[in-house]
Amino acid sequence: MRRIDKYEAPDKLLDGRVILISGVTEGIGRALAVKCAALGATTVLLGRNVPRLENLHDEITEAGGSRPGIFPFNLETTEWTEYEKITEVLSKEYGRLDGLVHCGGTLGELSPIEHYDPYLWYRVLQVNLNAPFLLTRASMPLLRKSKDSSVVFVSSTVGRKGRAHWGAYSVSKFAIEGLAQVLADETENIPIRVNTVNPGATSTNLRRAAFPAEDPGKSARPDEVLAPFLYFLGPDSRGVSNLSVDCQP
Ligand SMILES: NC(=O)c1ccc[n+]([C@@H]2O[C@H](COP(=O)([O-])OP(=O)(O)OC[C@H]3O[C@@H](n4cnc5c(N)ncnc54)[C@H](OP(=O)(O)O)[C@@H]3O)[C@@H](O)[C@H]2O)c1
Repeated sequence: MRRIDKYEAPDKLLDGRVILISGVTEGIGRALAVKCAALGATTVLLGRNVPRLENLHDEITEAGGSRPGIFPFNLETTEWTEYEKITEVLSKEYGRLDGLVHCGGTLGELSPIEHYDPYLWYRVLQVNLNAPFLLTRASMPLLRKSKDSSVVFVSSTVGRKGRAHWGAYSVSKFAIEGLAQVLADETENIPIRVNTVNPGATSTNLRRAAFPAEDPGKSARPDEVLAPFLYFLGPDSRGVSNLSVDCQP
């Protein structure tokens, strides 16, 4: 069977495709946005830090990529009714969505359940679970307008096997796996594919917060874990849905 983690994206893989990515101001989401643009996509950049969004916008256009859309958006605090505005704006601007990737995520704290701060628990579930649900729900009309569209959720090793002290983060990732399976089943007969990727240990702010004493050089760089994302976003994965894959062996 083909190794999705070794997928080599051909030049122009994403030519003409419109791809919305959350969590692009840092880490994996940022690296993915740069790569998608380099492969021909028009990216829509969603994040809460406007200067960093603008910086990424400029980096993409200066490298010759199609001018990205910018969507300042806080996944923790935005009311669910506001998500519909994304649909309205994207509908006017692009008329459809070919890809949606949920890279936005937060660690919360590492703490036993017994001592887990309830307010922080809610906040982590809001960013890591409720926001991807709301963004997907609002994007469905636009995803339906594409000939073949792709939704990619981002999970974690601790979203497949519970680990002490990973609390709300671990639980949110278990739930993301479930959300992806439910949606994949619901879209079985329409050309929307839904898959989940687990980046594995990747040197980002989130990883550094979880393992402050770890040598960052021991984890993959964000640009080294993108192969499965690109496979699922491009036409080579047409008809492939309901998979949960690892980006690293
Ligand atoms: N790194 C790993 O080892 C690893 C392993 C498994 C899974 N993952 C998953 O990979 C995904 C990307 O994480 P990463 O490692 O690249 O972490 P990261 O560098 O910390 O990036 C997380 C991104 O999410 C954004 N974000 C967080 N809270 C937000 C909010 N309330 N509103 C809008 N944006 C928000 C951050 O924006 P700000 O810059 O504004 O905070 C940042 O752009 C996450 O889902 C994570 O769970 C990572």
